[in-house]
Amino acid sequence: MRIIVTGGAGFIGANFLRLMVPRYPQHHFYNLDKLTYAANLLSLQDIESCPNYSFHRVDLAESDAVTALLQQINPDQVVHFAAESHVDRSILGPADFIQSNVVGTFNLLEACRAIWTVSTGKLFHHISTDEVFGSLGPAGYFIETSRYAPSSPYSASKAASDHLVNAYGKTYGLPIKISNCSNNFGPYQFPEKLIPLMILNALEGKPLPVYGDGRNVRDWLYVTDHCEAVWLIMERGRLGETYNIGGFGERENNEVVRLICREVAAQTGRAAGELEALVTYVTDRPGHDRRYAIDSRKLQTELGWRPRESFESGLRRTVRWYMGNRTWVDMVRSGEYRQWITRNYDQRPGGH
Ligand code: NAD
Ligand code: DAU
Repeated sequence: MRIIVTGGAGFIGANFLRLMVPRYPQHHFYNLDKLTYAANLLSLQDIESCPNYSFHRVDLAESDAVTALLQQINPDQVVHFAAESHVDRSILGPADFIQSNVVGTFNLLEACRAIWTVSTGKLFHHISTDEVFGSLGPAGYFIETSRYAPSSPYSASKAASDHLVNAYGKTYGLPIKISNCSNNFGPYQFPEKLIPLMILNALEGKPLPVYGDGRNVRDWLYVTDHCEAVWLIMERGRLGETYNIGGFGERENNEVVRLICREVAAQTGRAAGELEALVTYVTDRPGHDRRYAIDSRKLQTELGWRPRESFESGLRRTVRWYMGNRTWVDMVRSGEYRQWITRNYDQRPGGH
C-alpha cells in the first residue's frame, strides 16, 4: 500500500513512522509535513534512508499543493496526524490552528474525494483528541458518543476537523475512521508539553511551573501504545466508526510532577525533595479543563487492544530517553534543530 502519514515529523507521527516503516517494508510511507516549529527531522534520522520511506514538505492549508501531491502519490490510505497541537499557543494565536487543523483537514479530504473514485481498499484515518469533549467533573468518562464541548481554540479546531471528517463519510461515502486519544508522552515530544518540560527543567534545576492549583487531571498514555492502537484501528476497525484510545491512566498534575521529580532523582542520584522544591505555582491557563478521562472499552473489546506501558514504566523510559539523547535535547533547547532543517532539507535539490 501507499500510505500517507501527515505530520510525520511531529511527536506522535515520528513515533508512528519509526515503528511502522521498518515493520512493514511492503508498504511505502509518505511523510507530508509543513515543518513547523514542532517538527524535527532529527527524530526520523534512523529511518530516513529506508527505501519504503519518503518525505514531502507541504503546508496542508495550501489546497493546490495538497491536490497536486495527492494526485502524484495516489495513496491507498491517509493517516492524518498533522495539526497545531499546543493549547497554550492556541490561546495566544488561534489563526494557525484554524488554518492547519480546519482548512488543512478540509483540503486533505477534498483531495482524497477527488482521487478516490472507488472507495474499495481506501482509508482516511483521522487522528483526534479527547479534548473535543471538554471538561469532566470528578466522576465519569468520555465515551465515543459524548457530547462535543471544546474549551480552547485548539480543541475547537480539532472538533471542527472531526465534524468535517464525519460529514465526508456520511455525505460522500469517503471511507473514514476517527480515533480520539488522551494525553501522550514519551520520546521525541517537544518540550513545551508538561512532561518533557518538567523532566528537562528538573534536570537543569530550573523552576517547575504548575498552572493554577495543579489539581487538573489528565489521562496519560505512552506514545507507542497510541501508535499501535492507531495501526490496529486502521487494519481492523470498522469504517465510519470512532474509537477512543486511552489506558485508564488518570493522574493529577501535582502527582505527575512529583513522580517526575522522583524518577529524575532516582536516575541521577539527586534528592527528590530538592527537585520537588522547584515546583512553582503560576497563573492558570484560561479555560483550563479540569479533568479528562477516557473510556476505551470499545477499542479493547472490539479489537483486543491493551496498552503495554503503565504510567510509571512509561515515565521511567521517558526520563531515560531525555537523559540519554542530549544531542536531540540540546538542538531543540538551543533552536539549532531549525538550522539543521534548513541546512539538511531546504538546500537539497527538489526540496525532498
Ligand atoms: P506535534 O505538534 O508534535 O506535531 C504536529 C506535526 O504536524 C508537526 O510536525 C508539524 O510540522 C505538522 N503540521 C502542523 N501544521 C501543518 C500543516 N499545515 N501542514 C503540514 N504539516 C503540519 O503534534 P503531536 O503531539 O504529534 O500530535 C499529532 C496529532 O495527534 C494531532 O492531530 C493532535 O491533535 C493529536 N493528539 C495529540 C495528543 C498529544 O498528547 N500530543 C493526544 C491526542 C491527540
Ligand atoms: O488530551 C489530549 C491533548 O493533550 C492533546 O490533544 C494536545 O495536543 C496535547 O497538547 C495535550 O494537551 P494538554 O493541554 O492536556 O497538555 P499539556 O502538556 O499542555 O498540559 C498538561 C497539563 O499540565 C494541563 O492540565 C496543563 C498543565 N501544565 C502544562 C504546562 C505546559 C502545567 O501545569 N504547566 C505547564 O508548564
